[in-house]
Amino acid sequence: MKVVGLSGSVAGSQTVTTMREVEKEIGRSYGTDVQFELLDLRDLKVEPSDGRNFHEYEGDTLKVATALAEADAVVIATPIFQGSIPGVLKNVLDLLPEDGLRNKAVGIIANAGSPRFFLAAEYQLKPVLAAMKAKIVTNCAFIEAQEIYRTEIIEDETKHRIDQVARETVDLARYLQLKEG
Ligand SMILES: Cc1cc2nc3c(=O)[nH]c(=O)nc-3n(C[C@H](O)[C@H](O)[C@H](O)COP(=O)(O)O)c2cc1C
Repeated sequence: MKVVGLSGSVAGSQTVTTMREVEKEIGRSYGTDVQFELLDLRDLKVEPSDGRNFHEYEGDTLKVATALAEADAVVIATPIFQGSIPGVLKNVLDLLPEDGLRNKAVGIIANAGSPRFFLAAEYQLKPVLAAMKAKIVTNCAFIEAQEIYRTEIIEDETKHRIDQVARETVDLARYLQLKEG
């Protein structure tokens, strides 16, 4: 099984820190049964989506879209910017066709400066994923910026919330594979 971790910030390091915990948990819980690929948007030059079929792009844009299209499951880590997801993350999703996440399990981890935004990903990201026909993991993990110091998650409880989303995403993908089977 192939899982892609999409880290949706090009600003700081908090978002990718949560995704590194996802990677660790998947390694601990599933070993070599699950192949994990991290897409850190800070390291990738993704072109603006202009409505083309994603196969017509080149370089990092093609790489990112192909990895998502071929994944069995995707974990999206997003910061909250202006009460929503960053434009760079939405742009990546816009590269895929309208049903580009059909039957893929998708889990969400959101991080923000203020706890007032704990429902932002529920209201802003879930509808986008639903439009793309994803099978969305119900439980999102919300992380406040103060739970991470530099690139370190301070509390085990924070890690547990992230780990739970990681496992629920893989388990949902396994269920979907069995059902199609
Ligand atoms: C442009 C911008 C807009 C932001 N808007 C919000 C916001 O609306 N609500 C909030 O709680 N935090 C907001 N923040 C804080 C970020 O969500 C928070 O610092 C997050 O952890 C950054 O993740 P990163 O280090 O991976 O970039 C904003 C930060 C930036 C840079």
